[in-house]
Amino acid sequence: MIYTIIEDHSPYYITFKYDGLESIIDYINDQVPYKIEQSKNFGITPINYEYHIYSKIVSNQFFNLLPLSEQIRFNKNFLLSVNTLPGGGGAVHKDVDQHRTYCRFSINIPLKILDDDCITSWYSDETFKDYPSMKQNWRHAFSDFRKLDQFEPLMTASFKPTEIVLINADIWHAWDNTRSSNYRNLLSLRAEFPKDVYFEDIKSLLF
Ligand SMILES: [Fe+2]
Repeated sequence: MIYTIIEDHSPYYITFKYDGLESIIDYINDQVPYKIEQSKNFGITPINYEYHIYSKIVSNQFFNLLPLSEQIRFNKNFLLSVNTLPGGGGAVHKDVDQHRTYCRFSINIPLKILDDDCITSWYSDETFKDYPSMKQNWRHAFSDFRKLDQFEPLMTASFKPTEIVLINADIWHAWDNTRSSNYRNLLSLRAEFPKDVYFEDIKSLLF
């Protein structure tokens, strides 16, 4: 298999690499996003992160260059990165796509990571069982990423600039860049049929 596992922290995340990863990162870093959307603020900070959305032409070219396209059915017309501001972060959530379809996993590829200070954490269902948002079955459990210290995570991670990350997006998770003075930008790849493909399925396909 062409992919080399760096760390396996199943069922939360797996980091891995392949020869040629740097060139695809360089390709996207040379492109200008077609559109930038700012995060909702949830009354926390004005902007926590931006979605950088690439054109269909760039997106198609990217997926044609990406060897993982042979194992995973990505939505090749949709490519976005999540560019987190210094001091920003993301709410405790489970992933959905632009049509509010559940995404059970995410493949993240680093575009810009300049430090180790952005922390991603995973939490149990039990932790948020009494939060009203979860009872409504909305995919956010807790909005204020600056106050995550009160919860005990099941796992934490700090992603590296040269590693791909397979993320279990079906477990509550959040990210916190409040200790950093740098932007952190990651591509977040979406499957074509995200509702039906789980972390363990992708693990079996790749490794
Ligand atoms: Fe997520």
